[in-house]
Amino acid sequence: MASSERIFVQAIRSYGARHGIDVDVRAGGWLIAMRRGAMRRFAFGYDIGLNSAIAHRLANDKSATAEALSILGVPCIPHHLFLNPKLGSNVVDAAWREAMLGLLLDNPQGVVVKPNEGTSGRSVFKVTTETELDRAAGEVFSMSTGLVISPYVEIENEVRVILLDDVPRVAYSKQRGSDWKHNLDAGAKPVLLEDGEVRAACAKLAIDAANAIGIAFVSIDVVHVDGEWRVLEINSGVMMEALGKLHPELAQATYDAALDRVFEEQREH
Ligand SMILES: Nc1ncnc2c1ncn2[C@@H]1O[C@H](COP(=O)(O)OP(=O)(O)O)[C@@H](O)[C@H]1O
Ligand SMILES: [Mg+2]
Repeated sequence: MASSERIFVQAIRSYGARHGIDVDVRAGGWLIAMRRGAMRRFAFGYDIGLNSAIAHRLANDKSATAEALSILGVPCIPHHLFLNPKLGSNVVDAAWREAMLGLLLDNPQGVVVKPNEGTSGRSVFKVTTETELDRAAGEVFSMSTGLVISPYVEIENEVRVILLDDVPRVAYSKQRGSDWKHNLDAGAKPVLLEDGEVRAACAKLAIDAANAIGIAFVSIDVVHVDGEWRVLEINSGVMMEALGKLHPELAQATYDAALDRVFEEQREH
């Protein structure tokens, strides 16, 4: 086992060893084939296979997430979608740049430009001028099919809640480092939340969000803005690399609970 192996993979290996499950890791660690007797299951990336295809797609698409949540009345940060003009004029409205500029004009405090599918804080730009907007859009479109624009909001606290079937398993606040973003990859530190009002409010919002898109095992980021909690993003892959370094037993217990569901004998589908 390589020492750089992801905590996700290590957790599956550990679960497998304790439950008589063969674990075969392929594709540079991204594809994991699991087998217990005649039962075969796959994990891919950070996806353990408990979520429906449509829930997974909605979660992975920031614009679709925000639309679905607003239909269900779950407070969230709006994300306006712009498709890459390289897809051609049949797909992309010629007025795309005007529409982007309109959003900038509507939000004098600035906007955030980022890839619709999310890349752990990479290519996420805060923009306040037309020049910055063009540069950010160029950068995002060089890598992504979809770009989203949100009003820039002053985030007082960003909390991640990990749910399995509506039960909060983990809740932590992301303490920023020098970066303005709360990504753990960019140096933010996870700090577990004690039981109390904040944890309860975040858990409730996360459960509402999970129910809105019908997702079972999920990592939901909520932000405190102007005294209110709102959903920022939903991830259908549950990543606990940074948390697992600080609280390995908690990460393992959470993956164990999810894998118990994966290998449950009698499940109605
Ligand atoms: N509209 C916004 N206003 C203020 N900060 C934002 C906004 N959108 C994102 N951020 C900051 O950028 C970080 C990354 O954005 P996020 O939507 O989570 O994308 P990713 O999928 O790349 O993590 C967030 O953790 C947050 O700190
Ligand atoms: Mg994020």
